Amino acid sequence: MSSANTDKHLIYLDNAATSWPKPPEVAAAMAAYLAESGGNPGRSGHRLSIAAGRVVLEAREAVASLFNVDDPFRVIFTLNATHALNTALFGLLQPGDRAVTTAMEHNSIMRPLRELERRGVEVVVIPCDTAGFVDVDRFQHELAQGARVACFQHASNVSGTIQPLELLVTAARAAGSYTVVDAAQTAGVLPIDVTATDIDLLAFTGHKGLQGPPGTGGLVLGPSFDPETLQPLVRGGTGSRSEFEEHPNMLPDRFEAGTPNGVGLAGLAAAIDVLTKRTVRRVRAEEQDLTARLQLALAAIPGVRIYGPLDPSLRTAVLAIRIENVAQDEVGLILDEEFGVLTRVGLHCAPAAHRTLGTFPDGAVRLSLGYSTSPDDVDRTIEAIHHIATCAPHPPNGLDAVGKHLPSASEKPL
Ligand SMILES: Cc1ncc(COP(=O)(O)O)c(C=O)c1O
Repeated sequence: MSSANTDKHLIYLDNAATSWPKPPEVAAAMAAYLAESGGNPGRSGHRLSIAAGRVVLEAREAVASLFNVDDPFRVIFTLNATHALNTALFGLLQPGDRAVTTAMEHNSIMRPLRELERRGVEVVVIPCDTAGFVDVDRFQHELAQGARVACFQHASNVSGTIQPLELLVTAARAAGSYTVVDAAQTAGVLPIDVTATDIDLLAFTGHKGLQGPPGTGGLVLGPSFDPETLQPLVRGGTGSRSEFEEHPNMLPDRFEAGTPNGVGLAGLAAAIDVLTKRTVRRVRAEEQDLTARLQLALAAIPGVRIYGPLDPSLRTAVLAIRIENVAQDEVGLILDEEFGVLTRVGLHCAPAAHRTLGTFPDGAVRLSLGYSTSPDDVDRTIEAIHHIATCAPHPPNGLDAVGKHLPSASEKPL
């Protein structure tokens, strides 16, 4: 069996897409689930079903505790953040309603909203500045005109920009709007307190900062949110109230139909356990230090442009960069093939964010650090980018050198 990561030490800087490597406890918990508790959770009364149900409950309790929600049944499991955001937006918005969002959103908010717009929902997109911060005055002004929902990301998957969450939630609350917060980039990366912040609906994914497996995520219902105001996206078997053909109302069954991803949730519970022991605050402090080190060094390399906030305390460990006179695709390719640095190039499913940052339509090279990134990884990445930028052709008259091949690292060492 061949593996993509056997030949050289890889520097994985694509944690904003999905985190890697996962803590070994995650695979161990998933294997144990399949071997020891592989019944259908909540369906049958036998011991394997009960064992599986216990694992799912433990995962629910772990998520509730991480986001400080008292009732674990207010954690609704979904496949990912996209599924959670669709549950929130399609469940809250009807034709004639108004929704306010920002010009930095990922397509997992933009696409459901554009579909809802087609069905008669008014969608208002608040502009953001070139560092990605939403215009708070405009946000407040639009909410004051009346909006059923304010939905926005906690942090950008392109520039790492962290929005002023408390301020935005307070403004929405004051205007009587429900808040839908996309925490895909911040769950496990920044401390989030759903109760203290008084968020209505928080969408998270399990496979990024939480270090869990793909196929896990969820929607957390804040303590003051009335679940009856949200229509379920899917209905079907829940293992509860089987005598009725109508879908049950109780939580979490109201929003969870069909067999849950027990094996994934076993991995997620193990991942959150590892994270909780290390603490989100410590992960954040370490990632912020490494991001500052990377940002400072890259800013000193001629021809490298960094997008997003200058202050590392206002961004997650995500940097979008461009290198002058080199096609961004080629930067990604050289980083991978010559230096073993894995990044993501392009528009990152967020065309609105790239328009805001001024990087549309070519996109940018995204470096996203994570839980396992070391100072050595950062230093080697700086060297690699220095090599690419200093070897980049600097054509006269500002001619674009897109598509030209750069000398490889072995041909032209630093
Ligand atoms: C800001 C943001 N929102 C939502 C998503 C969607 O997450 P998922 O792929 O888990 O559905 C992503 C994923 O990249 C993201 O970065």
